[in-house]
Amino acid sequence: MDSQLIKTVNKLQDAFATVGVHNPVDLPQITVIGSQSSGKSSVLENIVGRDFLPRGSGIVTRRPLILQLINRPANPESLEKGQDEWGEFLHLPGQKFHDFDKIREEIVRDTELKTGKNLGISPQPINLRVFSPNVLTLTMVDLPGLTKVPVGDQPKDIEKQIREMILKYITKPNAIILAVTAANTDLANSDGLKLAREVDPEGLRTIGVLTKVDLMDQGTDVIDILAGRMIPLRLGYVPVINRGQRDIENKKEISKALESERDFFENHPSYRSKAQYCGTPFLARKLNMILMHHIKNTLPEIKAKIQNALTKYQQELLQLGDPLSDNQASLVLNIITEFCTEFRTIIDGNSNDLSSYEL
Ligand code: GDP
Ligand code: NA
Ligand code: MG
Repeated sequence: MDSQLIKTVNKLQDAFATVGVHNPVDLPQITVIGSQSSGKSSVLENIVGRDFLPRGSGIVTRRPLILQLINRPANPESLEKGQDEWGEFLHLPGQKFHDFDKIREEIVRDTELKTGKNLGISPQPINLRVFSPNVLTLTMVDLPGLTKVPVGDQPKDIEKQIREMILKYITKPNAIILAVTAANTDLANSDGLKLAREVDPEGLRTIGVLTKVDLMDQGTDVIDILAGRMIPLRLGYVPVINRGQRDIENKKEISKALESERDFFENHPSYRSKAQYCGTPFLARKLNMILMHHIKNTLPEIKAKIQNALTKYQQELLQLGDPLSDNQASLVLNIITEFCTEFRTIIDGNSNDLSSYEL
């Protein structure tokens, strides 16, 4: 995630905290949906930039994973690398996981505990919080993929159950939907896009993500889709390349995977000229812009909230016989005004990105 955005949002949160308001901006929840094994967990993991999700062929994600990213400034005293980043599960309070492989193991363990080992599913979510200086405080949701034919211990109506599970998360108007489709399958049959269209017919909060572009047949590409000639989406599509099954087995690192992804798009005859609009970094940038616009749109509301909080705060202090001095009050207001100006500048400086969705 973009460090400038993280800094700005933190500043806002700090300014609010001085007047006793916590979590002023309700940032959208980012939800990945699509067919089984289309690459949903891989996409989410790449956006977060850490290896911690179970991935693989077949139904690997069998319960919703609600991932709360929480920004927490680095502690200058913790010299050991990685001490500032850890995960905590709701079902294991107080237990800090600094080793992200252990987080993955715990997700698998708790999934099996609630759904058995024989491919069962459950709508009961796993709640994981990740604290880090490098994330934006927001929520992401990883979901089981859409599938039609029950196998193992799966219920006869598995398709319906998973649909309902997904709808519960994407119906919220605050949800941004990453509709994932493997590029080596037919877009017209995309389960993710179909479901997204049910809850977001205008495509105001749906981003199309095309995975497995590296597995397409020689001589074919996704250019027609990107250009909006197949199923147009207002927010467009982003082609990405995640780690394949062999990369997972060989424990290829995310940084190496991002390098290969860039190499692929920069050297491919179809994508070379538009490589800047391809890949995970562009997807992350697009998400950033959507989040910024969301915040910009809520700025008036935020300002009103601050004024109210400030008035209330002043009255309380007055009753205590210790009124907030005009100096203190104007200090807080200055911080807010400064923030709003700064934020508008950032938005305006980046707004080209939003209009450059079309290729
Ligand atoms: P999910 O079931 O939708 O969450 O998909 P996963 O992220 O678990 O991935 C399913 C399988 O597809 C794994 O074996 C991944 O390695 C593989 N995979 C996902 N994305 C890509 C990609 O872009 N390229 C290649 N070659 N394999 C991918
Ligand atoms: Na899978
Ligand atoms: Mg998955």
